[in-house]
Amino acid sequence: MSVHKEVKKVTTHQLQEMKRRGEKISMLTAYDYTMAKIIDHAGIDVILVGDSASNVMAGHETTLPITLDQMIYHASSVIRAIDRALVVVDLPFGSYQGNSKKALESAVQIMKESGAHAVKMEGGREIKDSIERILSAGIPVMGHLGLTPQSIYKFGTYTVRAKEEEEAQRLLEDAKLLEDFGCFALVLEKIPASLAEQTAKSISIPVIGIGAGGGVDGQVLVTHDMLGMTHEFSPRFLRRYLNLYESMSGAFQQYIKDVKSRDFPNDTEQY
Ligand code: KIV
Repeated sequence: MSVHKEVKKVTTHQLQEMKRRGEKISMLTAYDYTMAKIIDHAGIDVILVGDSASNVMAGHETTLPITLDQMIYHASSVIRAIDRALVVVDLPFGSYQGNSKKALESAVQIMKESGAHAVKMEGGREIKDSIERILSAGIPVMGHLGLTPQSIYKFGTYTVRAKEEEEAQRLLEDAKLLEDFGCFALVLEKIPASLAEQTAKSISIPVIGIGAGGGVDGQVLVTHDMLGMTHEFSPRFLRRYLNLYESMSGAFQQYIKDVKSRDFPNDTEQY
């Protein structure tokens, strides 16, 4: 007799309980079925279908070119793999800024067509109407402040944000606003650790950091970076758990050699 163990799914409410208990939240990106399955089975709390797919999967220089339909394709592939994790999908550039009706339509399309559990949006007070309209439809929203890559042409560089008092103050205010609007969690990217900790302590929703130090409620990394599949950059905050670029490259070279030398396939590898 097989005993089917019911998997308890992660919910937005549970993440808030984790913050209350002081239990750290783990989050990683995924854009496809196979990777999402491995990550989910490893026990991750949240999977982010990030618009970093624009860089990692499509080779664009920025996150700006990825479309809503492309995000939905990635999100649907991830959703098919998931037993436990909460799946959050980035609303891509141009799908929510400056037009709350369009924002709601974009979020609804993601939820309907991919089966995702929540959306993430970059920005604070300037996207208030869009966030509130999406929340009013019952769609959970994760905020994102600090280095927001969709605004890269405004910032000019990918350097640490909010080092100056004025920007730090604005970030603190925006974090509070996002909590007041009803966002269930917040990502803080590449800001001083002390400011991130202060933010996490000043609001009750979970704060998940990337390059924001250890004083927040959880951590997120881009999976391809932490696996060492990408190797073009090495920001200080990135811990590489594997060097898959080298391992994969070695395997590919060996395969090429084996094919050329007629070593592959051998007698046991054919019918
Ligand atoms: O798109 C993404 O991968 C992200 C993370 C860096 C937080 O937004």
